[in-house]
Amino acid sequence: MIAIVLFGKPGAGKGTQAEFLKEKYNLTHISTGDVFRYNLKNGTDLGNEAKVFIDKGELVPDSITINMLAEEVAKNMDKAGFLFDGFPRTIKQAEALEELLKEKGISFAGTIGLDANDEILVARILERGKTSGRADDQNEAKIRNRYKEYNEKTAPLIAFYENKKMYSSVDGIGTIEEVTERLSKVIDTLV
Ligand code: AP5
Repeated sequence: MIAIVLFGKPGAGKGTQAEFLKEKYNLTHISTGDVFRYNLKNGTDLGNEAKVFIDKGELVPDSITINMLAEEVAKNMDKAGFLFDGFPRTIKQAEALEELLKEKGISFAGTIGLDANDEILVARILERGKTSGRADDQNEAKIRNRYKEYNEKTAPLIAFYENKKMYSSVDGIGTIEEVTERLSKVIDTLV
């Protein structure tokens, strides 16, 4: 089994692209944001714990997120591997992921970042917010806070993975099909 991390700022297109790539490469797509939102909707303890942070556009604490991810991996060991979207988002999460993959005998193929500038992405999210019902999409201040969190806690992961020669990036601007093609070219070299 293999694992690929799809990396990028809020709104970069990780979820959109994962929908196509998971089918093409027979991967289980795990979006930590989707798992949190599912739990929020169903009023679980995990959902209630995460809500406080998500509503403010802050990252959910590592301990909660890492446990949740490990449970999702354990439940889904039936495909060719995993496509992680929105995880890891901190160095601590990246270290936990490496340990988890080792423990499960999953080979870490690499991390692919979707590049795009903040202004285009904020506009995308504001547009999506009209219909998504996501509390963290509803106003620009919350969206900006997600970028602040990204810059402070998540962006350092690029250097972390570059140092390990585990990072590639593709241009995230263009049609959805164009971006899928760029990502596929990189994934074909990893699998
Ligand atoms: P999460 O759900 O991961 O949100 P995010 O990273 O902010 O990412 P988005 O879902 O907003 O964007 P995306 O990159 O998936 O883009 P999408 O495909 O939707 O996390 C939400 C929250 O949960 C976090 O803020 C945090 O609180 C918590 N959380 C989650 N993971 C965590 C973790 N590991 N640790 C701690 N906390 C965590 O596309 C965006 C829009 O653009 C869509 O409308 C789409 O249709 C459109 N679009 C996509 N591609 C294109 C294109 N090529 N051209 C034009 N439009 C496009």
